[in-house]
Amino acid sequence: MARVAVVGSINMDLVTLASRFAGPGEPILGERFLTVHGGKGANQAVAAARLGAEVALIGAVGDDAFGAELREGLSRENVDLAHVVRIAECGSGTASITVAEGENHIIVVPAANARVTPAQIERAQSTLASADAILVQMEIPLESVEATLRLGQRLGKPVILNPAPTQKLPVEWLKLARYLTPNQHELAILLGADADEDFQSLMQRAPAPVVLTRGGDGAWYRDGGDAAHQAGFKVDAVDTTGAGDTFNAALAVFLHEGLPAAVRKACAAAALSVTRLGAQGGMPTRAELEAFLPSA
Ligand code: RIB
Repeated sequence: MARVAVVGSINMDLVTLASRFAGPGEPILGERFLTVHGGKGANQAVAAARLGAEVALIGAVGDDAFGAELREGLSRENVDLAHVVRIAECGSGTASITVAEGENHIIVVPAANARVTPAQIERAQSTLASADAILVQMEIPLESVEATLRLGQRLGKPVILNPAPTQKLPVEWLKLARYLTPNQHELAILLGADADEDFQSLMQRAPAPVVLTRGGDGAWYRDGGDAAHQAGFKVDAVDTTGAGDTFNAALAVFLHEGLPAAVRKACAAAALSVTRLGAQGGMPTRAELEAFLPSA
């Protein structure tokens, strides 16, 4: 069983379904509202656990009702919460999400996630040391992203940096990642490159190996050598929220099978994840992934 450590955010997702997006200053009627568990860190932890990994999450919730509910949900998914702290007099992270026209718009308020510190990550050293792979995203303070990359390097563990939501990062930090997993837009921002630059050339000059996600078109990956393409799997998409998180989790869980196999499974798991509503709603179990792969 693979062991995965995830350093990242925990949010309550406040999801509105509508037939279209509202314009600025334009109130419209939505179709449905629901609260579901999310946050890139929590989503990746849940996806990895459903795929059969032993998972530990390093993160923070507030001392509010959302925080208690989010912890309960993660426990039910068998995620180890020994390093999820509860911050006093602080709210939990939230994401206001509108799903319309087959897309989503998301605004995240980090709240407790902004209180994940490098010291907390150092305290989780033995958990990171026992992991086969470490996942980190960018909904926690950048100094904590850096701390995760540096600790992973020190421990000789592969760190997968999912640079979302993205911003330009120092090249020295990027070099510490075993894999970067941006989409094309994120890779351009991460490298401070022109938005029009071809993704193949961006991948070539990235300071670390890149697994580039392309939505329904699958993924491109490059680890030295030439870039290779994994086609996407055809499904009927209901909600794409959390597809990237499922992709990253599967990549970490199956990394020991080699990059091409891991990317193929990551594309398949991500495809399954969009067939149901909510970030965590469609994340497949290992059995569901295994049943889907031969038929896909
Ligand atoms: O990647 C999807 C996630 O992004 C959502 O669950 C939301 O919480 C935001 O963090």
